[in-house]
Amino acid sequence: MKIGVLTSGGDAPGMNAAIRAVVRSGILYGHEVYGIKDGYQGILDSNFVRLDHESVSGMLSKGGTFLGTARVPEFKDLDVQKRAVENLKEKGIEALIVIGGDGTYRGAMALSKLGIKCVALPGTIDNDIAGTDYTIGFQTAVETVVDALDKLRDTSTSHQRCSIVEVMGRNCGDLALVSGICGGAEFIITPENLIPKEDIIERLKEHKKNGRRHAIIVITEKILDVHKFADEITEKSGFSSRATVLGYIQRGGNPCPDDRILGSRMGAYAIELLNDGIYGVCVGVRDSRMIHLPFANVLDQARPKNELYKIVKKIS
Ligand code: ADP
Ligand code: F6P
Repeated sequence: MKIGVLTSGGDAPGMNAAIRAVVRSGILYGHEVYGIKDGYQGILDSNFVRLDHESVSGMLSKGGTFLGTARVPEFKDLDVQKRAVENLKEKGIEALIVIGGDGTYRGAMALSKLGIKCVALPGTIDNDIAGTDYTIGFQTAVETVVDALDKLRDTSTSHQRCSIVEVMGRNCGDLALVSGICGGAEFIITPENLIPKEDIIERLKEHKKNGRRHAIIVITEKILDVHKFADEITEKSGFSSRATVLGYIQRGGNPCPDDRILGSRMGAYAIELLNDGIYGVCVGVRDSRMIHLPFANVLDQARPKNELYKIVKKIS
């Protein structure tokens, strides 16, 4: 079979490990594997590159995605999707492995309906995909955020300050939650765990009264303006406060061992599925085992609330 592989949406550490596994295990089973540059744009531009064993050498440890990625809003248009299918068919590519988030999944589901054999792998630092315990890139992003929290705690303690740290995650609080717990944050505010500003200010006043020298607030992006919130805390709680927006550094860096393994397992598993004639599915990891589910099941499902919320109040 001729199999295409692409990465799409926000890049995530471990995407290269997944591509490498697709290429190496695909070749092992006698397939031809084509890298598609810059997400769905590469299909529209017929930008297909034959990949061999050597072309993915050295990729396992590299962050980002060597195939490039893009957001291609016009891909939601049926005519554009049909053009993509024509380009794939012209090249003889009958199967596609996509690595990305839920938007990428929707693109793959559309191509599946038009006859392309698609398998999707969850690649995003947000950990916001139903049907998998972890997405490729999440664990590395947690390490990056925890490293930043440790550093911010040093300076916050020295200056007796309250640090507000905004992390990514889109509409999912997992990155803030897991890194906040690991970094010993006093408050973790996420879309799943909104805390009224007044409550935070009251609790900060108590902290101050009890002689605490610092406080760390970790908050998911898009909830409030962290700089304005820092000013409000400074004004009302007695804790001088500063906001730090971690931004794109969270998406970069070499993948941690867990993401190298997850990407490798998922890439190899995607080829196994195609070998077995299974497609129109998304790959996930559940209780350490590889699973696959139909696109519609995953895209219609809300992600269950993270179990870790149960301990946040008990330990902060
Ligand atoms: P992510 O995959 O990380 O969620 P996006 O939401 O930006 O990132 O989606 C990545 C790309 O997937 C989009 O730029 C677009 O090309 C494609 N895509 C998103 N939503 C759809 C959709 N409803 N139908 C077809 N393609 C889509
Ligand atoms: O999905 C990954 C992600 O980094 C989100 O956490 C964030 O909201 C978004 O992408 C940022 O997208 P862009 O790269 O388009 O600014």
